[in-house]
Amino acid sequence: MRHFTFLLAILIAFVGCAPEGTKKSREATPKYEAAVSTVSPEATQVGLEIMEQGGNAFDAAIAVQFAMAVTYPRAGNLGGGGFAVLHTKDGQSDALDFREKAPLKSSKDMFLDEEGKVQKDKLLLGGLAGGVPGSVRGMMELHEKYGSLEWNKLVEPAVKLAREGFEISSFEATRLNNYQEDFKSVNPDSIPFLKDEWKEGDTLIQVKLAETLQLIADSGAQIYYEGSLAKAIANDIQSAGGIISEEDLNRYAAVYREPVIGTYRGLEVISMPPPSSGGIALIQLLNGAQKFAVHNWGHNSPKTLHIYTELMRRVYADRTTFLGDPEFYPVPTENLIEDNYLDDRFTAIDLEKKTNSSDIKAGKAARIESFETTHFSILDKWGNAVSITTTLNGNYGSKLWLPNVGFFLNNEMDDFSAKPGIPNQFGLIGGMANSIEPEKRMLSSMTPTIVTRQKEPILILGTPGGPTIITSVFQTILNVIEFQMDLEEAVNAPRMHHQWQPDLIYLEKGKFDEAVIDSLEVMGHEIYETPQLGTICAISISPSNETTAVSDSRRYISAAKVMKNE
Ligand code: DON
Repeated sequence: MRHFTFLLAILIAFVGCAPEGTKKSREATPKYEAAVSTVSPEATQVGLEIMEQGGNAFDAAIAVQFAMAVTYPRAGNLGGGGFAVLHTKDGQSDALDFREKAPLKSSKDMFLDEEGKVQKDKLLLGGLAGGVPGSVRGMMELHEKYGSLEWNKLVEPAVKLAREGFEISSFEATRLNNYQEDFKSVNPDSIPFLKDEWKEGDTLIQVKLAETLQLIADSGAQIYYEGSLAKAIANDIQSAGGIISEEDLNRYAAVYREPVIGTYRGLEVISMPPPSSGGIALIQLLNGAQKFAVHNWGHNSPKTLHIYTELMRRVYADRTTFLGDPEFYPVPTENLIEDNYLDDRFTAIDLEKKTNSSDIKAGKAARIESFETTHFSILDKWGNAVSITTTLNGNYGSKLWLPNVGFFLNNEMDDFSAKPGIPNQFGLIGGMANSIEPEKRMLSSMTPTIVTRQKEPILILGTPGGPTIITSVFQTILNVIEFQMDLEEAVNAPRMHHQWQPDLIYLEKGKFDEAVIDSLEVMGHEIYETPQLGTICAISISPSNETTAVSDSRRYISAAKVMKNE
């Protein structure tokens, strides 16, 4: 016995003075530096805190999605939808579709008047404009398959932000002031967003939204689709002339889909398949940029911009004709990104002269000036990556704020082609592939994307901007890979856009030399200057695994943060 006590004493003494590094609980330095890039500093903070508590990138994404529904009410949402592209630390990729659907009672011509004219107001404002929301179900699916922390932990930060309020930015104040008349015209009663004048630093408290989020935190996402919330949502929408029913909500499902994956310069580009056009179009464009070796022509030189334009013209023509919800229309995804197909498509490009977009009735110059969708990119220390773009479509969606649940309903029905050949708010035209049908998902341009090298993430990115999403993501990837820019320069470099119809090159105003514009005009192009294109939120990982996070200087630069490893 004395012998045993002696041994025990030695053991305790030894363990007691064990050097720090030999403790079993000590983790090896993680492979990656975790990072979050959003356009909301409060939401970014929420994402970082979730990862500090041991959550993975997917947990952080769920918490950020809920936080943005509070802090970025014009696009962050409980009443909209979106897409997530995921890449796990084991090198697997996945895509989650939580896009809105047309309600059961919808029909092809529901937005046409007796003379067959599109009723724009109904498409954009009020109850009828909304698709069946998918965001909450999307977060539930994401949590079930990839989450590691408890659900309520991920929703609580949003509850707190809604209940206690947060200080709004000058940008948010301006936006809220601009939409006061719409808020009043659509909502019969007062809503928390009405005020004589919003100013930077004002506190926005959303009591009803806090109650709804608390219910979702305590009871799970199901309550939104089958429980008391479903009833309240359907009632609120129908009281405002909408047709979304409890049955629509009961039947809504978010869907995991095969991501579209293309190879470009030896890298894998993982992006969103239909019902987004983003992934296919991005891979088509990158294939073209590779064929024309655009790095040889100089960044944003007239020749490079001309090549971009000619590629985009063809890619958006394909988008109009072939793309829609794959569950309703046979989208030839594989064919559209095949090398042979793209060879045929792009070889006719003349390097000196523009070609004309087809003679299909052109949309009038769409004013691509507002950026209402939002994107966020997240990386965790294990190398899990997530890229989410989520939207209400327009600023504050349909402007209809649902009084018994406390959030805005989207106006995503405008992403359908309400009438063949007639442009939507973004000047996009469409055909049968994207006509309205009950339970169909409307075509999107959202392009959440992850680029990997041998299955290791090197770039996570996306942006708002309607049709300009695809071209903004395209140019940012080229800036990094072809033109070797660091991430900040790549994100902030001037951008252009072309979408087949209208046959115009959109250039960011004041950012391109007159000489460049003159050269493009000599090639026959028509130029349309627009204030800004896209708001990229991106993360890059260098070959030595150093993480950089950037949120476009076109918005808040402070909302991108890297967590340095100790
Ligand atoms: O899904 C889409 O493509 C559109 N609803 C996105 C809208 C958007 O990005 C608005 N911002 N400009």
